[in-house]
Amino acid sequence: MLYNYKTMTKASDVFTLKNRNKVEVTFIARGGQVTSIKVPDSAGEIADVVIGYPTIEGALAGDGYFGALCGRYANRVVNGQFEIDGTTYQLDCNNDKNHLHGGVDGFNNRIWEVEPITLEKFEQAYKLSLVSEDGDQKYPGQLKVDVIYGLTKSNEFVIEYAAETSKPTIINLTSHAYFNLKGAGTGTVENHELQINAAQYTPISAEIGTVTGEIVPVAGTAMDFVEGKSIGSALSANDSQVKLVDGIDHNFVIDGYDGMIRLAAVLSDPDSGRKLEVYTDQPGVQIYTGSHFDGSETGKLNAPIEKWAGVALETQIFPDSPNKAHFPSAVLRPGEVYKHTCVYKFS
Ligand code: BGC
Repeated sequence: MLYNYKTMTKASDVFTLKNRNKVEVTFIARGGQVTSIKVPDSAGEIADVVIGYPTIEGALAGDGYFGALCGRYANRVVNGQFEIDGTTYQLDCNNDKNHLHGGVDGFNNRIWEVEPITLEKFEQAYKLSLVSEDGDQKYPGQLKVDVIYGLTKSNEFVIEYAAETSKPTIINLTSHAYFNLKGAGTGTVENHELQINAAQYTPISAEIGTVTGEIVPVAGTAMDFVEGKSIGSALSANDSQVKLVDGIDHNFVIDGYDGMIRLAAVLSDPDSGRKLEVYTDQPGVQIYTGSHFDGSETGKLNAPIEKWAGVALETQIFPDSPNKAHFPSAVLRPGEVYKHTCVYKFS
């Protein structure tokens, strides 16, 4: 699909948010895909801190999850199945035997309607909207989604999600940018320091293809980022969970989550001094170190997009929550409003 016929928004339409500190977020209508985030370092040196492609054409042809809005259910639903009120639903399985990021034609693939909006808390903001019809990718209910992208004067790129459904359904929206604070194309994130406010995480199994349902302490494992450490130290650890996915592709359980916005994680690059704080009201954050990149694609600065070139910090509910009664609920019912805030604060 090249056009959203309702508004004639084109896939390649480009939008930019700017603030007084020269922070600049660029995105396209297709997938609400964030194609660049330019941030100065302490010396004023600007770098583009999300990995991707040198051109919009490249973004449209390349990895459709880069910087994109993912849904209806970001992350995995085991066997693509779930049950609500005694009815079983079968989604398409686009990730071996599991459903990933909303299916083959997920929200990352849609042309969002985009309009500039004015909100006092933002120096600049846009509203992105989408109507996903009943049965879209085999999900029940018509889902209306509004996402606000806002940039504050304090260098916060804020993503506010809201959605309503016409029938009981499941939902888990996220944003899939991979960060490299030294600058996309300058190497891997192995030397980046990561601190996560998560004393627990959800281990995965190769056989299931995602979480087992256990919630275990990070203490004594490679997943212990409570005090902060380099990502590389976890990547090189002799740890069976790391070896399974040749990196980190895990959901962390944010300490004390209660629906209020709290600091989930801090990523920093010792070379440039750039820092990213991630705040959210969601219970989890999926940390993904981009282990499937193999250098075959050319990214920004004309450098190959190599393994571990960036790290995604995706705020969300836990993977496969619809099938895990003890995980936070992903069910949305008519009359309720799904809400999710994610703040990426740069300094
Ligand atoms: C998942 C990875 C997956 C990637 C696809 C991430 O959110 O955790 O397992 O390969 O998305 O881009």
